Amino acid sequence: MVQDSFKPKILGFLCNWCCYTAADSAGVGRYQYPPNLRTIRIMCTGRLDPVFILEGFSCGADGIFTGGCHPGECHYQVGNYEAILVAEFTRMVLETVGVRPERFHLDWASAAEAPRFVGLITNFTRKIEGIGPVGQAEGEGGDEVMLKVAAAKSAVGGMRLRTSLGNLAKDFRKDNDYSLETVRRRVAEKLGPAIKTEVGGQEILLRLKRQGPLSTADLTGKVGAGGQRSGGLPGQVGEEGAGCREGRVLVSGLTRRKQGSEPPEDGRRDTDVGKKRYE
Ligand code: FES
Repeated sequence: MVQDSFKPKILGFLCNWCCYTAADSAGVGRYQYPPNLRTIRIMCTGRLDPVFILEGFSCGADGIFTGGCHPGECHYQVGNYEAILVAEFTRMVLETVGVRPERFHLDWASAAEAPRFVGLITNFTRKIEGIGPVGQAEGEGGDEVMLKVAAAKSAVGGMRLRTSLGNLAKDFRKDNDYSLETVRRRVAEKLGPAIKTEVGGQEILLRLKRQGPLSTADLTGKVGAGGQRSGGLPGQVGEEGAGCREGRVLVSGLTRRKQGSEPPEDGRRDTDVGKKRYE
């Protein structure tokens, strides 16, 4: 049950040409709406980057609202269509890390629609009040959720997901079908597996950095969404930067030799192995 005293922190990315102006008009017109919104003005919802959303949740937002011009009325022609794609991608990433995707909402209001803007923000704030603080409603400790969100932020900022999303956006521009059903289906098909892999991989690296060596069993238990991947990842990472030996994962020389075990035959210390592989 959500406490009555819960006052959600709502972050709003508002397009300069429509929603931001609508918010301004709502203020001038003395419309009443919940005071939870903190606004960031962007020139177009096409500027929205999934990293912004994950950064917002990392910084403690309980809900993030993005408001733009109605479809077909974007001042940069297709920015809000791109935002539809980015929003669906971001929702999928949030779902992957166990954050309720309803915490992120994309909607439209023109500069002349102050009452509509007020309605959208009021409804969204009420919805987040009902869901509860980020982390708590997700049924995990806040630290666990934040670790996963940080992993997702690294993953969506990485080359692989950015390139895949960019390629998908190009396909959409050719096909011109941004219906919700199509966007959902194609994002799930084209990006779903890559999201799981990349986020799972980043989560493993983050856990190793923060918590030191962990057994593969620990990792597999903790990395839910990337669990399948985590079974194979330490071995793969071993080729690039970390290795798995005697049930321990070795990263950057963070090696614990089993008591009484002999040094490697080639005479190298484990720390040398870790450093070399991580370069
Ligand atoms: S200019 Fe408003 S959404 Fe593009």
